Amino acid sequence: MSPDKPLAPLRALPRVSLMGAPSLVHRLDRFEKAIDSRGPIFIKRDDSIPFGFGGNKVRKLELVMAAAVGEDALTVITCGGIQSNHCRATAAAAARLGLDCDLVLSGARPAILTGNTRLDEMFGARLHFVPDRADRAPAMAALEKERRAEGRRPFVIPLGASTPLGAAGLALGVSEMLDAGHQPDVIVHASSSGGTQGGLLAGVVLTGLKTRVIGISADERAAPLGALVEDIERGLLHLAGSDAAPRKAEVDDSFVGEGYGIPTEASREAQTLLARSEGIVVDHTYTAKALAGLIALVRSGSLADTTSVLFWHTGGQVGVLA
Ligand SMILES: Cc1ncc(COP(=O)(O)O)c(C=O)c1O
Repeated sequence: MSPDKPLAPLRALPRVSLMGAPSLVHRLDRFEKAIDSRGPIFIKRDDSIPFGFGGNKVRKLELVMAAAVGEDALTVITCGGIQSNHCRATAAAAARLGLDCDLVLSGARPAILTGNTRLDEMFGARLHFVPDRADRAPAMAALEKERRAEGRRPFVIPLGASTPLGAAGLALGVSEMLDAGHQPDVIVHASSSGGTQGGLLAGVVLTGLKTRVIGISADERAAPLGALVEDIERGLLHLAGSDAAPRKAEVDDSFVGEGYGIPTEASREAQTLLARSEGIVVDHTYTAKALAGLIALVRSGSLADTTSVLFWHTGGQVGVLA
């Protein structure tokens, strides 16, 4: 069977066009030397998706925003941390589609908006600050009610757009990678709300690859994040009408350090090495920690039997300017 066939139901889902073109995949030959890698390391450049400063969320939003449009929504509501890449990408997509956007951001309103919040405002989103992560869902529910009462037909996007529908964007990304001739033994990427890893895993299952998908956690412990990833993967396989057996999620939570967004020695090293060997930026909240995970795998020799490793760069570079 063509590897494309099991993806046909996902391809048939309504999508708005935000990606424009496949993201680039290329080899990191100077970085390989910098970390004494014996095998080739490739990178998938979702950081350089042109739309709205790019990142993995653009893939999810092609499907999720199409669902909002399909429901005739006038306003989208979503949430995240103050420097949420997901919120920034959602604000950009809402602007592109002519929708209003309410963002619930956990943390105190900064005196000066920087990085992603500055872009949120530039894209025309309304920002609502709540003290705590736990306050986000009730605040979104209250806003949903308010917008409905105003006749602004709200559509709520859960944290990170990490639903099976959003994750379908990443499964389709796997086939994009295959179309470009890349079939790595291992994919390493940053994982947080589970949609990226659930989507990549389902993509690997649907296309019949043996590729390991290793998610390096940005905050959550491995067991609950793994369970979330597997739920999304199962939901996505169901959405694709597949009865293929889901794969277990491989989540590594040993690079979080003191917590979400707090740099570690390893993330600082990863950021510096990649910037100085390749001119590519990774951020301390997500991608530098994920790259630190990849470096540790290479140095421990546990990837010695693999012929190729791919770092899926999920974006986040705006955060370094916050
Ligand atoms: C730059 C970046 N990388 C990775 C992730 C993790 O993706 P997911 O939430 O789908 O696990 C995020 C999520 O916010 C992100 O912004």
